[in-house]
Amino acid sequence: MAMVWLLAVVALVFSGAGEARVLLTLDDFGAVGDGIANDTQAFLDAWNAACASSEQAVLAVPAGKTYQIWPVQLAGPCKKRLKLMISGTIAAPASPDEWAGRDPMKWLYVFRVDDLSVTGGGTIDGKGTEWWARSCKRKKTKPCNTVSAPKALQFEECRGVSVQGITMQNGPQFHLMFTRCTGVKASFLRVVAPEDSPNTDGIHLNDTSHVHIMDNLISTGDDCVSMVGNCSDVRVKDISCGPGHGISIGSLGKNRTTDRVENVRVDTCLLTNTTNGVRIKSWQGGMGYAHDLRFESIVMKNVSNPIIIDQYYCDQSTPCANQTEAVEVRKIEFVDIRGTSATEQAIKLACSDTVPCRELELRNVNLTMAGGGAASAFCYRASGKTAGAVAPASCLAKTPHRMLRDTTPERIDS
Ligand SMILES: *[C@@H]1O[C@H](CO)[C@@H](O)[C@H](O)[C@H]1NC(C)=O
Ligand SMILES: *[C@@H]1O[C@H](CO)[C@@H](O)[C@H](O)[C@H]1NC(C)=O
Ligand SMILES: *[C@@H]1O[C@H](CO)[C@@H](O)[C@H](O)[C@H]1NC(C)=O
Ligand SMILES: *[C@@H]1O[C@H](CO)[C@@H](O)[C@H](O)[C@H]1NC(C)=O
Ligand SMILES: *[C@@H]1O[C@H](CO)[C@@H](O)[C@H](O)[C@H]1NC(C)=O
Ligand SMILES: *[C@@H]1O[C@H](CO)[C@@H](O)[C@H](O)[C@H]1NC(C)=O
Ligand SMILES: *[C@@H]1O[C@H](CO)[C@@H](O)[C@H](O)[C@H]1NC(C)=O
Ligand SMILES: *[C@@H]1O[C@H](CO)[C@@H](O)[C@H](O)[C@H]1NC(C)=O
Repeated sequence: MAMVWLLAVVALVFSGAGEARVLLTLDDFGAVGDGIANDTQAFLDAWNAACASSEQAVLAVPAGKTYQIWPVQLAGPCKKRLKLMISGTIAAPASPDEWAGRDPMKWLYVFRVDDLSVTGGGTIDGKGTEWWARSCKRKKTKPCNTVSAPKALQFEECRGVSVQGITMQNGPQFHLMFTRCTGVKASFLRVVAPEDSPNTDGIHLNDTSHVHIMDNLISTGDDCVSMVGNCSDVRVKDISCGPGHGISIGSLGKNRTTDRVENVRVDTCLLTNTTNGVRIKSWQGGMGYAHDLRFESIVMKNVSNPIIIDQYYCDQSTPCANQTEAVEVRKIEFVDIRGTSATEQAIKLACSDTVPCRELELRNVNLTMAGGGAASAFCYRASGKTAGAVAPASCLAKTPHRMLRDTTPERIDS
């Protein structure tokens, strides 16, 4: 091991601070990189060496080559800050059968790693075609796959992780996902999958806070950016999105769970040909809240449902039962939103009977129909205020609707 390690040290460079760093490459660990060979063990060996390095390591996936990698768990903690420099391509096996006996939800699974940056200009290719073909969302005859497909690059329990300047394509399911992380950055990314590929969200957050998602092109078959329970302090900025399902908070409260989302800012986004624009969706029967969310400076081009709050979300074949609990939706601002709607109803605020939406604000909104003509707005138990020019004309009630149940108690700050 020590020998391999020494041989692997192909260069020593010095960072500005004068701290030694070590560069390792996959090839030093016997990877072939022809897209056919099984380079999994080499990748794991290289990762383990880099992770155990007492000097900051840069682990390079060399350009011009494709490394086929079976599902792996890259576990931390690592000794020092680590950089994974992907300049070539990391590709998944194309057949879902290769997951037999393994967790079907995972491919590149990074667990408990802090201070990691992924960069390099290369590509992560999830080879999702066969997974999509087998998904029940697409294949209408049995047998079809109801369980989820693997997420391409997934971080769980991380701190200080950034993924920047790479291409992520054809994920079997979500492309980039963070669960129970804090201090996350995802930028200068190109995330692409076909418009009709099921569940191929671009970037997905679950129970994650202090996030910057910026300067990305995302064009997939599902949400460009989505976030679910317990996400807070999230900034989404300068995103080109579409086709896909838009930018989504939720779904929240599925199967009566308690989810809390707060302090999210989404600004300066261009959405084209998406099935939703900015969306908040929650299931009936859920608990918790979505509040202090702001969507600003957004241009929509031929977007269906440009502005939508749906407290009756139901993504299943059987109708969802009516329930009294609901995720509270409050203090949501829609500011400087303009462009065209592919549907006549450009604004839809469908709130709960028992927990109506409150303190919504529409300011300087101008949405017209893509084919020309005026769009319309629909409100149900939604209240708040309007400022500037708003078209279609706001349907928000000025006074809040009565709550039919007590909501989750506010945090006591003082
Ligand atoms: C590829 O290598 C990994 C790690 O050794 C192993 O788990 C996997 O089964 C291998 N795949 C094939 C098809 O041999
Ligand atoms: C969020 O992550 C938790 C595990 O931490 C999981 O149980 C839950 O299903 C996830 N929620 C969604 C909507 O994916
Ligand atoms: C959010 O936090 C609540 C309470 O701590 C927990 O019950 C729930 O499972 C969490 N949800 C997610 C999606 O992590
Ligand atoms: C919903 O929650 C119940 C009780 O917590 C659990 O038994 C059931 O498996 C959950 N259903 C789904 C679809 O997650
Ligand atoms: C939007 O869809 C139209 C019609 O399919 C297509 O011509 C156009 O190129 C699409 N725009 C983008 C940015 O995908
Ligand atoms: C607008 O989107 C619809 C479907 O959502 C599509 O059929 C149509 O071609 C698009 N039009 C343009 C001009 O992009
Ligand atoms: C839920 O309530 C709506 C409106 O009162 C009603 O039209 C619908 O049939 C109900 N759905 C179920 C599944 O009970
Ligand atoms: C709204 O947009 C339409 C179409 O682009 C434009 O003609 C109109 O002047 C705009 N209205 C306002 C108030 O900016």
